[in-house]
Amino acid sequence: MSNRIGTRHATRHATRHGGRRGPRRAFGALLAVGLLLLGPALLSDLQRAPWGVGKAEAQVERDPAAIVGPQECAECHKETTAIWRNTHHFATFREMPQNEKGIEIARKMGLRRIKEDSLCLDCHFTTRIKDGAPDVIAGVSCESCHGAAEGYLEVHSKYSGKKKGEETEDEIAERWRRSEAAGMIRPDMMYRWAKNCYSCHVVPQEKLVNVGGHPAGSAFELVAWSQGEVRHNVWYNDGKANPPADLAQRRKMFIVGMAVELETALRAVAEATEKASYAVTMAKRADVARKRFRQATQLVPGVPEMEAIAAAGEGAALKLNNKAQLTAAADAVAAQTQAIVERYDGSGFAGIDPALPAESSWKGTPRK
Ligand code: HEC
Ligand code: HEC
Ligand code: HEC
Ligand code: HEC
Repeated sequence: MSNRIGTRHATRHATRHGGRRGPRRAFGALLAVGLLLLGPALLSDLQRAPWGVGKAEAQVERDPAAIVGPQECAECHKETTAIWRNTHHFATFREMPQNEKGIEIARKMGLRRIKEDSLCLDCHFTTRIKDGAPDVIAGVSCESCHGAAEGYLEVHSKYSGKKKGEETEDEIAERWRRSEAAGMIRPDMMYRWAKNCYSCHVVPQEKLVNVGGHPAGSAFELVAWSQGEVRHNVWYNDGKANPPADLAQRRKMFIVGMAVELETALRAVAEATEKASYAVTMAKRADVARKRFRQATQLVPGVPEMEAIAAAGEGAALKLNNKAQLTAAADAVAAQTQAIVERYDGSGFAGIDPALPAESSWKGTPRK
């Protein structure tokens, strides 16, 4: 899944940064704290901050007009669909509308029903447009993560109209190019899919948190949360096995996940308008994220993109009325994270291994 440049860079880093030890224990402790979002005490400038104006960050593309529904994927991706049906993402479709806490949050937000308004639908459900009206068809499903499929369903799956194995290299490349252009989010687009997880698992809706009492997000971490019940590495294993992402990939996921956490939290603080639960929680989240990222640069030193991410996070004041600075910092983090995804395959990030979430902490039981 890596490109050539990636492998070369990673190998160079691997030899250069072989056996450093240093700040690992401190990182482990900070990681544990970070995951619980108990973070270090709030920055004093946060407490003083005059909270400013803003609007919730737009969701990553899940356009209901282009949703086809998971039953369309099931036709070919049978095992993957079976795995998905055992996840919270699937179950929320039936459970959430009856959930007492959910009904309470909806009531506080002035909604009669959870399925009534796009506010809850965006993150808890898959919605399709049918006869001009929104139709809620599933929980969080294939297209919530891989992109609304109307434009790529046919093109990605038909081997360019030939038999499997008979396409030319060019035809294969063209098929994937067209799929991506039509909005397909593929496994090797790690930045894109990580952003997608975080777009739901950090809740960038101030009113929903402050007024509705909705949690401000999950104690989300990319490796632990993707390698448990969500894991579905089956298609390219002919449905016979479902192995975890390999070690190099997990290192890369861990670092990319921390960076996207930082980016998302910076944007969430940028949008905050009042000094209340939302702003305080998001600022804490951003502060923990940038401290953790700094620790990561000490475990995996000499990667310029990682240095730039840590510096961008540290350069932003976590306070209200600071949208321009916070957004610029988030943009810088985003650009550098995309560069990491393109240039490295994780084989050179061995320094991070002691901080990687242990298998026992992966969320939910993966299907074997
Ligand atoms: C007609 C059968 C078919 C249907 C329907 C189908 N797929 Fe696929 N899918 C394939 C095939 C075939 C491949 C592998 C292509 C290859 O090996 O080059 C694939 C590969 C994939 C991949 C891996 C892409 C990669 O970069 O390797 C993803 C993700 C995926 N499909 C998602 C979906 C989703 C989401 C849906 C429903 C919206 C769907 N597929 C519907 C046949 C199908
Ligand atoms: C930005 C995405 C997002 C939006 C918008 C959103 N939710 Fe959630 N919600 C989540 C996520 C993610 C979780 C899972 C949190 C966890 O368990 O880590 C969650 C969890 C919940 C829970 C369980 C909370 C608990 O403490 O156990 C309820 C209830 C809920 N949401 C109701 C709602 C309702 C009602 C709405 C609309 C008014 C809504 N949500 C809108 C993302 C969202
Ligand atoms: C919660 C987000 C999420 C959902 C829901 C989801 N996927 Fe995925 N999918 C991913 C991610 C992330 C990867 C890449 C994981 C990796 O690289 O280790 C992936 C990988 C894949 C692959 C390639 C890996 C393989 O060998 O199978 C296919 C095919 C696929 N998904 C199809 C589907 C289909 C079909 C559904 C619905 C039944 C679905 N996905 C639901 C996030 C999701
Ligand atoms: C469209 C919004 C959305 C996206 C995208 C999304 N999730 Fe979720 N996820 C949710 C919601 C909502 C819940 C809570 C469902 C419930 O329990 O009611 C959840 C629950 C989970 C859970 C179960 C947590 C538990 O309490 O055990 C895991 C694990 C998870 N998500 C991982 C991921 C990963 C990994 C990705 C990205 C590859 C991802 N999610 C993408 C909305 C989303």
